[in-house]
Amino acid sequence: MFEIPTSAKQHDESRQGEALLLEKDPKKHNGRKLYIESYGCQMNFSDSEIVASILLDSGFETTRDYKEADVIFINTCSIRENAEQRVRNRLKEFESAKAKNPGMVVGVLGCMAERLKSKFLEEEKLVDVVVGPDAYRDLPNLIEKVDEGSRAVNVLLSREETYADISPVRLNSNGVTAFISIMRGCDNMCSFCVVPFTRGRERSRDPQSIVKEAQDLFHAGYREVTLLGQNVDSYKYAAPTADGEEPAVNFANLLELVAQVNPLLRVRFSTSHPKDITDEVLHTMGKYENICKYIHLPIQSGNSRVLNLMNRTYDREWYKERVDAIRRIIPNCGISTDVITGFCSETEEEHQDTLSMMDYVKYDYAYMFAYSERPGTLAAKRYADDVPEEVKKRRLTEVVNKQREHSLERLQTYVGKTHSVLIEGLSKRSDKDYCGRNDQNAMVVFPVDERYHVGDYVKVYADRCTSATLIGRIVD
Ligand code: SAH
Ligand code: SF4
Ligand code: F3S
Repeated sequence: MFEIPTSAKQHDESRQGEALLLEKDPKKHNGRKLYIESYGCQMNFSDSEIVASILLDSGFETTRDYKEADVIFINTCSIRENAEQRVRNRLKEFESAKAKNPGMVVGVLGCMAERLKSKFLEEEKLVDVVVGPDAYRDLPNLIEKVDEGSRAVNVLLSREETYADISPVRLNSNGVTAFISIMRGCDNMCSFCVVPFTRGRERSRDPQSIVKEAQDLFHAGYREVTLLGQNVDSYKYAAPTADGEEPAVNFANLLELVAQVNPLLRVRFSTSHPKDITDEVLHTMGKYENICKYIHLPIQSGNSRVLNLMNRTYDREWYKERVDAIRRIIPNCGISTDVITGFCSETEEEHQDTLSMMDYVKYDYAYMFAYSERPGTLAAKRYADDVPEEVKKRRLTEVVNKQREHSLERLQTYVGKTHSVLIEGLSKRSDKDYCGRNDQNAMVVFPVDERYHVGDYVKVYADRCTSATLIGRIVD
């Protein structure tokens, strides 16, 4: 792990899998227990909530202990080689549970399932069922096939599936913050990236179903939603009508619709693509107090030649201009990023351009990775993965060290100020403290005050900070 620990968890692809606990009771029990564990980005975690909903409707109960499960699902990520390795190691740990309970069904879902397809069944004898991200409605049927003695695969990708009508079961929820998928797939072809192959074509979800999900969450007590997509700025939905299509809803329009659900519902979103983020979106953010002033804007590299090889379709100047626009239109906006070090043929000078870009932006937070070649991607086909591993790692360390300084610098600018904080729960370290985040997504810890509860907004004065957290007290 090369990440600086922080609260910005909505985009943490390298996160460990977690056992998930269901909140609602199944309609009719079938006497079988489901255990589901997720890896990868927040979209995968969000998909697990759809999977849980589908299986709950067909009668499954859930368990937090895989050893007592009848069905184990592992929702997988392919983004880097180590993400896949982690899944394979985890599968090995399920072997003894399956040996004790031969009727147990082990399923691999998500991006690795899509990438490897039926090859997975050859490579991992333990696995009974392989299901890609667009085929989850078929899960009850596929489990039935396994029950009848076959092994089952459905990795069909769809141009339409958005699971818009499925009401996700909130898993491991704090009851205050939730994720809403607004689109699926990706139509960009960043040369390093496996996502277009594992998630298929980009499609946007009907805005009415998104607004309804936000309203339902608000009525259930939730106070923050994060709208999720690989490139939210290219969100576009036009409802078909008898005589053509209604005017399209773009991302700025959608943001506004969700912000209008209730002023007490905070709205966040991820991920913004530098080529697509518009001033219209920035002005909408400025217009609504409940749209959090925080943008995740992955740069990947600060050098224009490398960006071109990466097929990111913007250059250094374009990215700078977008950052300038953010600073101009939303002066108090937090910005985070993703960086890849050691991409094919990256020189030392080009790496320095990434560092200087970091100095220019001073990100609040960054997810930083050494380049990992993924089979089938444009880069794997076209370019040699020629930066030696130790050079990639050394450059990564330089990027991580710089980011550590900037994260601290940014936090220090929040010290001595009062922040609006949504109480998310008790702090991990002490049940005498609450934790929550400010508008810019910084984690804030402050003493419990009996007058306020989880889900309330409070004004917190930040007295000081550690490397990743603001520490303060409630002020009236
Ligand atoms: N849709 C998002 C990225 C999703 S993947 C975007 O376009 O910004 C999350 C991050 O993983 C990427 O931003 C990138 O920094 C990293 N990543 C993707 N493929 C990678 C690879 N092959 N090696 C290393 N890091 C990679
Ligand atoms: Fe991958 Fe690029 Fe799509 Fe992001 S925009 S998911 S990096 S192809
Ligand atoms: Fe991983 Fe798939 Fe997300 S590859 S990062 S789980 S879209």
